[in-house]
Amino acid sequence: MSKDPQSLRPATRLVHGGTMRSQFGETSEAMFLTQGFVYPDMEAAEARFSGKDPGFIYSRFSNPTVAMFEQRMALLEGAEAARATSSGMAAVTASMFGQLKAGDHVVAAKALFGSCRYIVEELLPRFGVPCTLVDGTDLDQWAGAVQPNTKAFFLESPTNPQLEIIDIPAVADIAHRAGAKLVVDNVFATPLLQSPLKLGADCVVYSTTKHIDGQGRCLGGVILASEEFIQTHIHNFLRQTGPALSPFNAWVMLKGLETLPVRVAQQQRNAERIADFLAEQTQIARVLYPTRKDHPQYELATRQMSGGGTVIAFDVKGGKAEAFAFANSLSIIKVSNNLGDAKSLITHPATTTHQRIGPEARAESGIGDGMLRLSCGLEDVEDLIEDLTQGLKVISGR
Ligand SMILES: Cc1ncc(COP(=O)(O)O)c(C=O)c1O
Repeated sequence: MSKDPQSLRPATRLVHGGTMRSQFGETSEAMFLTQGFVYPDMEAAEARFSGKDPGFIYSRFSNPTVAMFEQRMALLEGAEAARATSSGMAAVTASMFGQLKAGDHVVAAKALFGSCRYIVEELLPRFGVPCTLVDGTDLDQWAGAVQPNTKAFFLESPTNPQLEIIDIPAVADIAHRAGAKLVVDNVFATPLLQSPLKLGADCVVYSTTKHIDGQGRCLGGVILASEEFIQTHIHNFLRQTGPALSPFNAWVMLKGLETLPVRVAQQQRNAERIADFLAEQTQIARVLYPTRKDHPQYELATRQMSGGGTVIAFDVKGGKAEAFAFANSLSIIKVSNNLGDAKSLITHPATTTHQRIGPEARAESGIGDGMLRLSCGLEDVEDLIEDLTQGLKVISGR
């Protein structure tokens, strides 16, 4: 790019940022589907390995297509550095294990995606890093959980699936006063609707499997932070442990970024309309959507996010049986545990993504048996509302 990419607006960065053209001058970014690289001679290989020549060595370390994706993500997030991973969970795992050692302590919000909760609640303690889980919406609990050896805080906001909002600047402040780093999983907000690094977080992670691919094809993840954080905690951890993103998946994600703003904007418009529609239905006990005025943290949501996102949570009256009957009767909206897709997807968190944490932890996190999570896709919203309407008729007739 001839113009400084930082001076461009996000949509332009997402189309052009990070592009490296080969000698053929291709329009679309090339897919470098290669494990490794050859050197003109032994001296060149030596220079590459010593770091004197910054070129590519091996695709577990880095790859031109993956590098383009990382560069485009860093430009979008306004981060100094980015490292791609093979899945969102690989990004979460590296962001924590890369910076912690036995004897350290972690504070994390209770309301986490099931696998994220497994990392902090079960896996880290096995390696000598105990974790205190707190109600993420209660700032006193974050402050009260700090110990002299607390080194990292971890949270998601909005949370999966109940769309709780955590005050990122306030939690970052508590973390920093304790000498700890804050890692934010920003999957639900997407990089377009919330910028955790600007809100004070030290590291942000994504499952790029979600909105960034956005069309249900590839798994991927990314870690974004300052150059110092990446160099100190992430760079070697990823190189030596090997959760590298495949160049093919990186290419899919890179192309996904070009259309991310239009997709997220349309999916969000659909979500806003559907949330309002569901809130008027007698079969629905409660609708949770961050930018609806009845969301318990509406004020905070509008302060730290520029939109409510693409996901809605709602409680069907009557619990599991009615929630199942409703979801099973939908035809356009598909039953799936995924989100952020062009296709609208509905999930019953209590029996799928949050089954593992058990009924007590679910109750504590407000995940009832009647709760459904709806990820709004790119279909015509009138078709989605017709689909939901016929589903509601099925349960009102029972
Ligand atoms: C909030 C959140 N974080 C992390 C992940 C994990 O991502 P992946 O499936 O790409 O490993 C998910 C996936 O559902 C998620 O919803």
